[in-house]
Amino acid sequence: MLEKIKKTVEFLNSKGIVDPVAGIVLGTGLGGLATKIENIIEIKYKDIPNFPVSTVAGHEGKLIFGDFGRKKVVAMKGRFHYYEGYDSDKVVFPIRVLKYLGIKSLFLSNAAGGVNPNFNIGDIMIINDHINLLPNPLIGPNDDRIGPRFPDMSEAYDKYLIGRALLIAQENKIKVRQGVYLSTSGPTFETPAEYKYFRSIGADAVGMSTTQEVIVARHVGLPVFAVSIITDLGVEGKIKYVTHELVMREAEKSESNMTTIMTGMIGLM
Ligand code: HPA
Repeated sequence: MLEKIKKTVEFLNSKGIVDPVAGIVLGTGLGGLATKIENIIEIKYKDIPNFPVSTVAGHEGKLIFGDFGRKKVVAMKGRFHYYEGYDSDKVVFPIRVLKYLGIKSLFLSNAAGGVNPNFNIGDIMIINDHINLLPNPLIGPNDDRIGPRFPDMSEAYDKYLIGRALLIAQENKIKVRQGVYLSTSGPTFETPAEYKYFRSIGADAVGMSTTQEVIVARHVGLPVFAVSIITDLGVEGKIKYVTHELVMREAEKSESNMTTIMTGMIGLM
């Protein structure tokens, strides 16, 4: 696997993608941040050796490298989901590539359904922990050169980065929540009973991504910061018919606030 990662890194280096300090994964409806990156080099996933190809509307599928403020970043516009039919190791391959490109921290975003009854549509939730109900992407032989067999997950989401994000949100008068993100395979949204169950086991929000990427990032020792945009509510009495289009529309509405927070965070790097 390391050889495959290194081949992909070599290819990206040869295209001018060199020494990014941060990696950013842009979730459903949240690709707009990419327009703030300047002097860009863009490469479609389908042109990157060993990358899977994204199949979902709203996930354009390209890697964007360039200047974000004064920092070099590499952003994934569109990610890979388990429900698309990829094995877990395909889903997380790009994260490993970002690590070997040299990023120092990983920033992730997603759209999620709120199951905390205090949440509202449009809320930004800083993820402070997760419940991974997707297959663990580290199942299988471990390459000790990449990371340990049994990675610690006691602080999957970096407390220092969360603290800084809270300050940035406060300075910009953006209300944020904090909470636990639970991942399921999808592609179905939840039944009311499933939302209730996920709440009862400790989730604040539920979605179909992120946790496998975070596990792999922690495996390689990357500090992680992640946010969910609450696009719909899985709360008794507030459950409405959900579509992917609605999720994208609601995510887009909170995008500028999310971008403000991410911009501040990457400025710290
Ligand atoms: N459930 C699962 N995934 C989601 C949801 C949801 O309610 N909203 C956005 N992604």
